[in-house]
Amino acid sequence: MSGRKRVAVLISGRGSNMAALVKAAETPDFPAEIALVLSNRADAAGLAFAQEHGIETLVLSHKDYADRIAFDAALDAHLRIAGIEIICLAGFMRLLTPWLVERWRDRMINVHPSLLPSFKGLDTHARAIETGVRFHGCTVHFVRAEMDAGPIILQAAVPVQDDDTPDVLAARVLEQEHVIYPQGLGLLAAGRLAVEQERVFVDGATPLREVMIAPQV
Ligand code: GAR
Repeated sequence: MSGRKRVAVLISGRGSNMAALVKAAETPDFPAEIALVLSNRADAAGLAFAQEHGIETLVLSHKDYADRIAFDAALDAHLRIAGIEIICLAGFMRLLTPWLVERWRDRMINVHPSLLPSFKGLDTHARAIETGVRFHGCTVHFVRAEMDAGPIILQAAVPVQDDDTPDVLAARVLEQEHVIYPQGLGLLAAGRLAVEQERVFVDGATPLREVMIAPQV
């Protein structure tokens, strides 16, 4: 299919969200193709999956660059050479410079394992259990310079059960990440999203239904 947006998925490890995006992009009518999987770690397990699916991979180690600015400049150059139009961060555990984030404004999205703006950062599932929230979940959002912040595209909520461990809760949330991340990328690649005053609109309307996805468990 021609006219599909060229997407780079940036990973640092397991890559299960990347795999979900790859599988979605393999369906005939998906409006994006995964043209590149880039990792900042050579040992990222997800690289093998991408290669098995015939996707170009690239390792760009941050250790080879003097600072964040130099790393992000190299990253940006590689993405542009590859003709990338959309970036999906998928467990990419690097803070990006405001320069790079601005350069890709409203063309870079992320998935985070919490209902933002709650539980930014790491160990979200343990913190959700400790805090006693009844619902937890995941968020697909546009990336802004502040960590785990930016206009929200989609969220999925899951219940927190009394006997949940962080691992059990993480698995319940991850299942939903794999649902909403491809949906969010599909909306962006199809040109169906607009950001106005840092709120996301789908097809010109407030996306009430599309934001509130019931847990599919
Ligand atoms: C996912 O749970 C993702 O939401 C999280 O890292 C995990 C990566 O797993 N990302 C963040 O915490 C970003 N702030 P994966 O490599 O299997 O997709």
